[in-house]
Amino acid sequence: MTENRSLQSIRGTHDLLPGETEAWDVVEGLIRDVMGLYQYREIRTPVFEDTQLFARGIGEHTDIVNKEMYTFTDQGGRSITLRPEGTASVVRAWLQHRLGAQGTVDKLYYMGPMFRQEAPQKGRARQFHQFGAEVLGTDAPEADAEVIMLFLSVLDALGLETWSLHIGSLGCRECRAEYRVLLVEFLSGIEDLLCEECRERVGTNPLRVLDCKNEGCRLATAKAPSLLDHLDDECRAHFEAVQALLGDRGIPFTVDPRMVRGLDYYERTTFEVLSPDLGAQDAICGGGRYDGLAQMIGGKDRVPGVGFAAGIERIMLALEAAGIDLDFEPLCEVALIHIGDAARQRLFTICDTLRRAGVACTTELFDRSVKAQMREANRREALLALIAGEKELEADTITLRNLVSGDEEQVAFTDIVTTVLERLDQMEEEAVDEEPDEWTDEDEQSGPGPGEAA
Ligand code: HAM
Repeated sequence: MTENRSLQSIRGTHDLLPGETEAWDVVEGLIRDVMGLYQYREIRTPVFEDTQLFARGIGEHTDIVNKEMYTFTDQGGRSITLRPEGTASVVRAWLQHRLGAQGTVDKLYYMGPMFRQEAPQKGRARQFHQFGAEVLGTDAPEADAEVIMLFLSVLDALGLETWSLHIGSLGCRECRAEYRVLLVEFLSGIEDLLCEECRERVGTNPLRVLDCKNEGCRLATAKAPSLLDHLDDECRAHFEAVQALLGDRGIPFTVDPRMVRGLDYYERTTFEVLSPDLGAQDAICGGGRYDGLAQMIGGKDRVPGVGFAAGIERIMLALEAAGIDLDFEPLCEVALIHIGDAARQRLFTICDTLRRAGVACTTELFDRSVKAQMREANRREALLALIAGEKELEADTITLRNLVSGDEEQVAFTDIVTTVLERLDQMEEEAVDEEPDEWTDEDEQSGPGPGEAA
């Protein structure tokens, strides 16, 4: 017997409903604008990939690969993984399509759903959305600074003013290997004080111990050697150059010697942007440099790269916490209201004609009373209503009501489109006239008017 329970969305996934989707559209539109400003071009990669891409790119000993990936075997026996992040896919696509050879496609951005089987909580979902940017093929510290500035420009465009930027450096593979020996030596001496997971990490991924949220581990590792003290000359110079570029632009940041990040592909610069309003899941953006990633996933040559990804859900929460309201309903210019079935069909045709003329309008699809149709028009804040019943059909006219002023007029059926367009234009002009005057450059030059104080 099949169970007939009512089905719900999967834990950790969320439906985005009307009201929210419009706000997301605004945010995504602003992100695209900023990407254009910085000259990044969009790439859309598949949401599932060969499991090896992430296992090798993100690292076998990371939480993401070990515990969080949605991996399944497909009908052909292949191991497939829903992407937990975008960077490995972008680098794979860049190598596969030889985008580097084209010379111009080196700054890319993406937006879309990512999947991680983490414990759901506020700001942490199993299907969540990121937007991100990647610059491929350059070691230049300017690229590191640019991706950070790009993300901060998105925050600026959204009106999000409170954030903190934390940056660190993980050095290159060579300096990290030397540091790892020192760190393992240190951690071996305090192993008894570490949590069980961290004890395991000492052998597999010792840097992650520094990132453990457990209070005992944090205290025990307070005096651990810092990677920043063990950078080689080139890595130190690179990190200093990134800091100088940010500093010159007046961008405030904190150097965090313990920043580890949850992905193994990082080298040199790492960074996170935190929002003070989000509680435990306060990272709205994470990123860094990954010069070895292309080779980790099978590329022949080293392709230096740097980028970031930001969680759109967390940005929406931060906007809400900051009181920035982006919810709105789409504009309804005309509501068509019928009295009786004959008029209903006629209005259906008129509605189609108006839409072809670019007018946003709605006609009744349900069997509601005139009163209910009027209520619906008001709820949608329609500007005009076109009302027709038998009387109007006989006279070949329609009642056009301005829902702002309440004025009514009779319009011949043949004149509906032109009259509606005229009235909408007039209403727009009136709305502009009612807006408070803005101080313009001309006002500035002409100085105070007669009788006004200088
Ligand atoms: P990440 O730090 O793992 O980095 O994720 C980036 C951002 O995605 C986080 O700061 C957070 O805002 C959001 N995020 C991550 N997991 C979740 C979740 N479970 N629920 C909601 N939001 C989440 C990366 O993914 C790297 N690919 C970033 C990068 C790009 N590095 C270089 N290029």
